[in-house]
Amino acid sequence: MRIIRTKNYEEMSRKAAAIIAAQVVLKPDCVLGLATGGTPVGTYKNLVEWYNAGDLDFSEVSSVNLDEYRALPVEHPESYWSFMHRNLFDHVNIDPAKINLPDGNNMDAEAECARYDAVIKAMGGVDLQLLGIGHDGHIGFNEPSDAFDLGTHCVDLTEETIEANKRFFNSKDEVPRQAYTMGTGTIMNARKVLMIVSGRDKAEIIKKAFFGPVTPQVPASILQMHPDFVLVADEDALSLV
Ligand code: GLP
Repeated sequence: MRIIRTKNYEEMSRKAAAIIAAQVVLKPDCVLGLATGGTPVGTYKNLVEWYNAGDLDFSEVSSVNLDEYRALPVEHPESYWSFMHRNLFDHVNIDPAKINLPDGNNMDAEAECARYDAVIKAMGGVDLQLLGIGHDGHIGFNEPSDAFDLGTHCVDLTEETIEANKRFFNSKDEVPRQAYTMGTGTIMNARKVLMIVSGRDKAEIIKKAFFGPVTPQVPASILQMHPDFVLVADEDALSLV
């Protein structure tokens, strides 16, 4: 595990974007595993800027997103499909046919999870997986539990996650209660994992996840075992370690 310490959110975003950009330059047809949430917005902004400057070409890149809310219309502004288009896909030359997210509107959870796993397998796995972290240590929507889930599965979001994500909706009642998420096993199989973290409110969980025991009660802690895991975090997020 490698830790890159940055002064603030802006520097974290630039450093993370530089790592993703290097991946795209080195392997133009790479598979990028992408993430949502507040944290990656600045990273995507940098990638769009560098694309506009002519330094990046996404035409051969494929993407797989970590997760999607279940039963939220795809056109809802807070669906992860909408988030990804608004923050990245609509502004770069990625081929729409190469964009993949779980289909939150397929109510047959078993079929949808199997389909998504097959898509990732057919692509040959993920070259670089971008991650944020939830306050309870979740990655994607892999919430604390008694065992690590391997493949894509349907999860009931925890009260803490619903509470944290209500800022994106008009009220807490509007936050979906379930999601489809890539499994921890798939994340661990990514050839490189890049986590970005910013802010004092994440300091506690960073200490627990990366300086404490590996346990499914803190899902991100398993990344300690990943052979190529890079944590790019700002001073506030690293203030307790
Ligand atoms: C959501 C996403 C996660 C993300 C987490 C943290 O729950 N499913 O992928 O890492 O939020 O979000 P933020 O970056 O806004 O703190």
